[in-house]
Amino acid sequence: MCGIVGYIGKQKALPIIIEGLKRLEYRGYDSAGVATVGNGEILVTRISGKVSELEKSLPQDLDNGSLALGHTRWATHGEPTERNAHPHIDCENKIALVHNGIIENYQAIRTKLEQVGHKFTSDTDTEILAHLIEEMYKYTDGDFTNAVRLALKEVDGAYGIAVISAHAPDRIIVARKGSPLVIGIGDGEHYIASDAAALVRHTRSVVYLEDGEVAVLSRDDFTTTTIDNIEVEKTVHKLTFDIEQIEKAGFPHFMLKEIHEQPTTIADALRGRILFEEGDVKLGGLRDVLDDLRKAQRFIITACGTSWHAALVGEYMIEQYARVPVEVEYASEFRYRNPIVTENDIVWAISQSGETADTLAAVREAKMRGAKVFGIVNVVGSSIARETDGGVYIHAGPEIGVASTKAFTSQLTVLSLLTVLMARLRGMSITDGYKILSELKSLPKMVQGILDQTAYIQDIAERFSFARNFLYLGRGYNFPVALEGALKLKEISYIHAEGYPAAEMKHGPIALIDENMPVVVVATHDASYDKVMSNIQEVKARRGKIIAIANDNDTEIERHANYVIRIPETLDLFSPIISSIPLQLLAYYIAVFRGCNVDQPRNLAKSVTVE
Ligand code: G6P
Repeated sequence: MCGIVGYIGKQKALPIIIEGLKRLEYRGYDSAGVATVGNGEILVTRISGKVSELEKSLPQDLDNGSLALGHTRWATHGEPTERNAHPHIDCENKIALVHNGIIENYQAIRTKLEQVGHKFTSDTDTEILAHLIEEMYKYTDGDFTNAVRLALKEVDGAYGIAVISAHAPDRIIVARKGSPLVIGIGDGEHYIASDAAALVRHTRSVVYLEDGEVAVLSRDDFTTTTIDNIEVEKTVHKLTFDIEQIEKAGFPHFMLKEIHEQPTTIADALRGRILFEEGDVKLGGLRDVLDDLRKAQRFIITACGTSWHAALVGEYMIEQYARVPVEVEYASEFRYRNPIVTENDIVWAISQSGETADTLAAVREAKMRGAKVFGIVNVVGSSIARETDGGVYIHAGPEIGVASTKAFTSQLTVLSLLTVLMARLRGMSITDGYKILSELKSLPKMVQGILDQTAYIQDIAERFSFARNFLYLGRGYNFPVALEGALKLKEISYIHAEGYPAAEMKHGPIALIDENMPVVVVATHDASYDKVMSNIQEVKARRGKIIAIANDNDTEIERHANYVIRIPETLDLFSPIISSIPLQLLAYYIAVFRGCNVDQPRNLAKSVTVE
């Protein structure tokens, strides 16, 4: 969500901060700011807008020191104005603080601080922390770190914070409860960031802060304690991705680059995991829990957004082939509705970022209720990956475009592997396992074939770029694909779109259909093909414009649809991996024709680390 970057060391800090903020801009980006310490006080520059504007507005004489913090904001409390941008400062201009998260009891604390004379200049929850630390500092005998600890004990809610101060200009203090923070270790320098993407250019050695921990970074050292000042031993991890993976590689947008990476990312999700001769799969992160999986009476899959759509496909796959009952829950609902979870259930959390606040909270809720919890996660070392009892990485590499594309198809690929694993544990034959896995292996090539039709999809996108509404229909495995197609379009083009199970159209959306309504129908050859064709007739009878996603060998469809995008035929369970590709391209090009900022759509953030 919000992006945090900090630096202390021997180089000029501000260029490092600005470069880091640009890398994090995809997380949240309505305003930005930096702070340094100079001449015994805090120097702050903040703007409403993008990091490039912040860079332009940095005063020439801004201190060129080697300590600074930066922030890109995604507004929770208060409009995205300059005065609400971070860093926030105290009354005396001695403390600067950046924050990702929400302080829930900020109003009560603000009232108390106002009563003792603190003056507030923003509408944010964050500003109270700067003033609270200022207040605590009065009672800590010059121990600034202790003042931060004492202040944090007073706040409820979620935070990843970084603080600098003229009282202690030799350090950055960071703390975490619920919002990610990574420390980068350099040679005579330290970095902090809310996302390792901001660090990888400078160092590969990182330490992940855990909830309830406070770290103090100087040039040469860092120490970590609990909020109660008990020392904590930290492990240094190595980042596994390269700087090239977080650059555009000649594509105009990250989203398009990521769509085109899918032949590779799907293959990466399969790499080393298929045992052809045994008709089986090998998933290292589940090796020690095969017995639990065999005995599981039920799976609950919890997730948000696009990952939730992947979970819905997973439900269809696992129930059909492994006959394990599966329930799919929005993480935000699961955690608040007193769910029935027993130790015979296995809970799965699907998350690209591994940091989504609701999904993380659902993981904790399920663990508390005695279930084993496993993750299907992209970001290595993320909170969900660390807190689950095991799981499977999707290995899609960094996904920067806010609208998830390659992570979705990699999640589906891993869910396919999980389906085979579960089915084989529960009696599927080697031959059937082999058949499914052989088909799975051929998917990257099929995806490449669809990407080669980009020009045609671009042409359709141009024709419909002025539409005001869109309907997406699919059945069976392709019902979640309809939801995902509609979500992609809404997210980046701001066209209202709804996804529906095709047969449900009769129960409401059909009222919307007229000659101005484009209807995207996934009509692949599967168990429900004939039924979907009837649904297409219903749309046609009302003069809706039909864009069909159909198989290469379908000779019928052209007579009914206005436009047909061809995809290869595959097993039912893999159909979503194939059919989602043209929908991603359609959404992308419609957004581009409308002049939208595809990688940074308004109001959205890549990783939603607040509830
Ligand atoms: C945000 C993103 C979506 C993503 C969802 C869940 O809303 O914009 O693209 O699907 O969060 O994120 P996760 O990282 O948990 O998969």
